[in-house]
Amino acid sequence: MPLVTTTEMFKKAYDGGYAVGAFNVNNMEIIQGITEACREEKAPVILQVSKGARNYANPTYLVKLVEAAVIECPEIPIALHLDHGDSFETCKSCVDGGFTSVMIDASGKPFAENIEITKKVVEYAHDHGVVVEAELGTLSGIEDEVSHAVGSYTRPEEVEEFVAKTGCDSLAIAIGTSHGAYKFKPEQCTRNEQGILVPPPLRFDVLEEVVKRLPGFPIVLHGSSSVPQDYVKMINDNGGNMPDAVGVPEEQLREAAKLAVCKINIDSDLRLAMTGTVRQYFNEHPDHFDPRQYLKPARANIKELVRHKLIDVLGCAGKA
Ligand code: G3H
Ligand code: 13P
Ligand code: ZN
Repeated sequence: MPLVTTTEMFKKAYDGGYAVGAFNVNNMEIIQGITEACREEKAPVILQVSKGARNYANPTYLVKLVEAAVIECPEIPIALHLDHGDSFETCKSCVDGGFTSVMIDASGKPFAENIEITKKVVEYAHDHGVVVEAELGTLSGIEDEVSHAVGSYTRPEEVEEFVAKTGCDSLAIAIGTSHGAYKFKPEQCTRNEQGILVPPPLRFDVLEEVVKRLPGFPIVLHGSSSVPQDYVKMINDNGGNMPDAVGVPEEQLREAAKLAVCKINIDSDLRLAMTGTVRQYFNEHPDHFDPRQYLKPARANIKELVRHKLIDVLGCAGKA
């Protein structure tokens, strides 16, 4: 099947109590690792491209690589999404360039301005058959150009007016997730009886209040990497220096997916898997220099990590 929008995916996910994985893509190996796992597990998938990824790879290359994945995986629905579009112009360029979904992230702007710019993007996108994700509330965390040092939870009392006035198709909300691989610092966590660091719990009360006000409406969670400790260790055992951090607990994401959360964004975990694998490969094979040799196990580990997310976190395996 050709690239799809997220409309049908989200309807099925909402009704089925699962979420679709939205994975960030920067190069061929990442796209292959993700889509091979999704094809084998019969899972729908959203491949998303940030402004930084477009600058890195050149927009045309990423679109064409995603189109190649669509040809290779004809049996699963694949959407191509702009992650954190920062302006009408960026969103327009993606709509014109073959994306089926765009995010306009004006969450850092005042409420009225967020509505104004989101509405403008929605009008253009809908005229071209493309769906729009918007955001209310800001995530903390550090990830290139997309987040803020200090976040603020979504105010549920704003969501109905925002969705009614903008016409957006899905809404990203801030309930305590955070961008990047450095979340959450030990000083932000508490210790449980076993002495294990526990991050601040997600604000399910905020999510539930949003769901009450927007019944049936698809909700999105950004910053949902769980910072797998085995990959942090692999990086640090092989010359890296990643600080102690605890990601978003996977059980909490699974619970959110059973509610109205239809899209869960995961980027940093794949980066950790790729970097850990490549670092370990170089340590074990100091004489190797062919990129295919070290990218092959990196791609394989991304695939296995995505498989785990599909089955154990998102609940979307078998839903294609
Ligand atoms: O939330 C943002 C994504 O992780 C993309 O990050 O801007 O480094 O491509 P990036
Ligand atoms: P992570 O940094 O937690 O993977 O979040 C990714 C994201 O939200 C992309 O928009
Ligand atoms: Zn994000």
